[in-house]
Amino acid sequence: MVTKKLKKKEVELGFIQIPSKDRQHLFAESTLPLETKLNGFPAKVDKHARLWCREYLKSKFPVNTEVNLIRNEAGFQVMPKTATQETETNTNEQTIVTPPESESEPVLTSSDVSGLNETWHKIIQGDCLRYLNSEAIGDVHLTFFDPPYLQGKAYRFFDDNQSDGKYWDWVKSIIKGVYNVTADGGAIYFMHREKNAERVLRILRKAGWNFQNLIIWRKMTSAVPIETRFSKQYQIIVYAIKGEKPRVFNKLRIDPPPLPWHKWQHEEGVFLTDVWDDIRELTSGYFAGEEALRDKEGNRLHIQQTPVALLLRIILSSTLPGDVVLDPTAGTGTALVVAKQLARSSIGIEIDPLYIELIKKRLTNIRVADDVSRHFEYYKFTSNLKQIWPLEKPDLKQQKLL
Ligand SMILES: C[S@@+](CC[C@H](N)C(=O)[O-])C[C@H]1O[C@@H](n2cnc3c(N)ncnc32)[C@H](O)[C@@H]1O
Repeated sequence: MVTKKLKKKEVELGFIQIPSKDRQHLFAESTLPLETKLNGFPAKVDKHARLWCREYLKSKFPVNTEVNLIRNEAGFQVMPKTATQETETNTNEQTIVTPPESESEPVLTSSDVSGLNETWHKIIQGDCLRYLNSEAIGDVHLTFFDPPYLQGKAYRFFDDNQSDGKYWDWVKSIIKGVYNVTADGGAIYFMHREKNAERVLRILRKAGWNFQNLIIWRKMTSAVPIETRFSKQYQIIVYAIKGEKPRVFNKLRIDPPPLPWHKWQHEEGVFLTDVWDDIRELTSGYFAGEEALRDKEGNRLHIQQTPVALLLRIILSSTLPGDVVLDPTAGTGTALVVAKQLARSSIGIEIDPLYIELIKKRLTNIRVADDVSRHFEYYKFTSNLKQIWPLEKPDLKQQKLL
């Protein structure tokens, strides 16, 4: 990865001058000039090692912005340096440019994970609203919806500083769109910040969803201190269904260690409740561990990657093998990675072409850190576990992603 500060000329004209010290590393196997892509847009590197992409770069970042530049099979990807620092929020106004959507049909990977069901995985690059209102998607059994939270984070193709009104209208359209493509009795798990609980519940109800649970995900991280109120330590996940009855609800039993005031370990585990305090968020530093996707320098590739353990629980609770799982804002594709291992089919839509590449790689070679089978013991007291969790060791590879 190359990090550099953008000069006035670069911003005004729409290019990035690659520093001489980084040329060998970036262009070792290519001769210049070179036709390429930058964040999905057509770009060119000239013989002076200037990466030109007026369409994307011109006036995109303020002068003196520090940017990170990487090269992979999709071409070059540039992002402001803060985008890889998860604790910082970006309160600057952003101009968001929509990337060109893939011309081709969505990628369809066929695989037979368990031998029980033929499953497939569609990875679609583009705006989820466009696809939710098309023929590409239908008969979905479960949706996991984890949008950007309007927190001023530095997404490349989403304005996380937009007005409240615009943002919630966007959310409403997606929730309605998901409802329309969901089979009767199908489920949605909509994750958001606790302060937005009221809004999330209202939007779901107005779109026709039937409320089932307000799940508190206590993320095993330190609380965010606030002076005038109690400090915050959880996130909400609202579980709702289409129609009166869920078509599937598997009552999971877990096997947590006994609490200090319990006399004995529960011999047959305990039923899962609506408070989830046993799944750790992938936060900064060592807590994020191996599971967080990183580039060669160790920088996080996605600031909001969801833990596989969370998706495992959701998919096990509300689907059966062979069902279809949808993630309309798929990010790194955690929902698809778990669906694949559980022999469910999946559809992931993501607007950022860089993340699409990550999802493809993550699905093709399931990494050791993404392996869900290590959680099997924890759920061993669930009465129908073998039926809902076809156990087959995936072909695990601990691979670097970029
Ligand atoms: C909170 S992240 C999802 C993280 C994901 N759960 C994971 O495990 O990596 C939200 C994602 O929505 C994507 N996004 C924003 N606008 C979108 C749109 N209109 N259509 C599809 N994806 C979008 C962002 O690029 C971002 O990756």
